Amino acid sequence: MTRISMTVDGVRYDDDVEPRTLLVQHLRDRLGKVGTVVGCDTSNCGACTVLLSGKSVKSCSILAVQADSADVTTIEGLAGDGGELHPVQAAFHEQHGLQCGYCTPGMIMAAVDLLTENAEPTDAEIREGLEGNLCRCTGYQNIVRAVRAAAESMRTSVPSTPETAEAGAREGVTT
Ligand code: FES
Ligand code: FES
Repeated sequence: MTRISMTVDGVRYDDDVEPRTLLVQHLRDRLGKVGTVVGCDTSNCGACTVLLSGKSVKSCSILAVQADSADVTTIEGLAGDGGELHPVQAAFHEQHGLQCGYCTPGMIMAAVDLLTENAEPTDAEIREGLEGNLCRCTGYQNIVRAVRAAAESMRTSVPSTPETAEAGAREGVTT
């Protein structure tokens, strides 16, 4: 057994793990993060994608011990504290970017990484950015539309600061 510490969705966990345990197994079986799913046994589908220190990785392709000391974000940590959806989650919902939903957690995590790197991707760049994530249902059209909509929403949203909140209150609007 090897002792590891990692922060997952903002909470620190210290655990003893078998050196051969995959990160996805650790997340699901030990930490209960079952929103991260397994869709293949060939590291091919991307359904298990999480953010490891901000970068998307297939959590079935690395060992839990390799994530020692890391900051991991899963689909379960994306929504805000009040439960408000992340703009990418909201866009997938609004643009019908899913059908069975099995690929969706990984697709959304890959899209979050893509939009962190490129705030205004073309459709071709979206397709290229998500090429490691497979969807057997949608034909990808609505997924691309959802990522485009999320990009637009993230570019145009006004961050809520004390100043904007005060201005919004004066003008009778909420931020
Ligand atoms: S379960 Fe990780 S790539 Fe398919
Ligand atoms: S929505 Fe079913 S695999 Fe993508």
